[in-house]
Amino acid sequence: MISSLRIGFGEDSHRLVSTRRLVIGGVDIPNSPHGAEAVSDGDVLLHALADSLLSSFAEGDIGDLFPPCDSNSIGLSSKTILAAVLKYLRSNHGYFTINNLAGTVTIDKPKLGPHRLAIREQIASLTNINPSQVGVTFKTSEGLSPDHVQARVSVLIATSTEP
Ligand code: C5P
Ligand code: MG
Repeated sequence: MISSLRIGFGEDSHRLVSTRRLVIGGVDIPNSPHGAEAVSDGDVLLHALADSLLSSFAEGDIGDLFPPCDSNSIGLSSKTILAAVLKYLRSNHGYFTINNLAGTVTIDKPKLGPHRLAIREQIASLTNINPSQVGVTFKTSEGLSPDHVQARVSVLIATSTEP
C-alpha cells in the first residue's frame, strides 16, 4: 500500500569539448562533434536523475557520495553512480517505486531526437521501470550556449510499507 508520494528534482551542466564523446542517459551518441568535459563520463542526464532521486528523499546530492576531487570518481561510469544511488536509497528508505520520471536535455548539437527511444529504454533498464514511465525531451539553447549541455529531471516516487 502506498504510504507517501515524494517528488524529486535534479539538474546538471557541463562544458562541451571536442575531445570527449557524448554520453546521454547511458547511451553513447555517435558522430557528436563534442562531449562533456568531466571527471566522470559527464552524462548530464544520469547525473540529474541521480540527484533527482536523492532530492526526493532529501538526501543531499551525488557530490556527497562521489566527491569530484576523489580519484575514485575519475572515469566513473554514470551508470555506476546511478546504481550506487539506488542501492543507497533502498538500504536507507525501505521499499519504494518510481512512478515516472521526466527529463529535458538542452544541447544545440547533435540532434538527440533520433536517440530518444534508446535513451528511454536505457534509463528504464537502469531504474527497473518501463520505458512508458520515462519521458525525455530535447531543446536547443537557440545558439545562446553552443558549448554547454544541461539536463533537468523530475521524478515521482511512491513509498510503501511493503513490496
Ligand atoms: O530548441 P528548439 O525548440 O528549437 O528544438 C526544436 C526541436 O528539436 C525539439 O523539440 C526537439 O525535438 C529537437 N531537438 C533535438 N535535439 C536537440 C535539440 C532539439 O532533437 N539537441
Ligand atoms: Mg524552441
